[in-house]
Amino acid sequence: MERTFVMIKPDGVQRGLIGEIITRFERRGLKIIDMKFVHVSRELAEKHYAVHKGRPFYDGLIEYITSGPVLAMVLEGTNAITVARNTMGATNPADAAPGTIRADFGIEIGRNLVHGSDGAETAAFEIGLWFGDEIPGWERDVDRWIFE
Ligand code: RTP
Ligand code: MG
Repeated sequence: MERTFVMIKPDGVQRGLIGEIITRFERRGLKIIDMKFVHVSRELAEKHYAVHKGRPFYDGLIEYITSGPVLAMVLEGTNAITVARNTMGATNPADAAPGTIRADFGIEIGRNLVHGSDGAETAAFEIGLWFGDEIPGWERDVDRWIFE
C-alpha cells in the first residue's frame, strides 16, 4: 500500500481549517498513519523545499512555511500520492477544480493551504525527513470496504 506525506500549511492552521482538511482525506478513504503539529524551523523548511532553491518564489515560500505551526501527516492507500494531490487540487487555487481543498478554501498560489508529495521518491524522502523511518501501520476494520 502506498504512503504519502501531506502537510496542512500555516494558513490552514491559522484559519481553523485543520478539521475540514483532514476530513477530506479521511472521507476519501486514505488512512492516517502518523500525524504531528510542527513549528517548522528554517533548517527543516530549507531541506523540505530544497528543490525550489533559486526560484523567484523560494524566499517567500520559506517565510510562509515557517510563519506558524503546520500539521504534518503520513497517509496511506491505493495510489495515495496521486489521490492525495487530486484531493488537494492544482497548485494555484485559481486553477484548482471545484471540490478540491485548494479551490474550496483558497484563492492565491502563495496561500494554498496544503502540501502533498509529488512522486514516490519525494514521498519516501519527505516521510523520512518529517517522521523518520519505520512508521508502523495499523489495521483499519473498514479497509475491506474501501480497498478491493
Ligand atoms: P506543494 O509542493 O506545496 O505540495 O505544492 P505543489 O507540488 O503543487 O507545487 P510546487 O511546484 O512544488 O511549489 C511548492 C509551493 O511553492 C509555492 N509556489 N509559489 N508564486 C509562485 O509562483 C509559486 N509557485 C509555487 C506554492 O505554495 C506551492 O505549493
Ligand atoms: Mg511540490
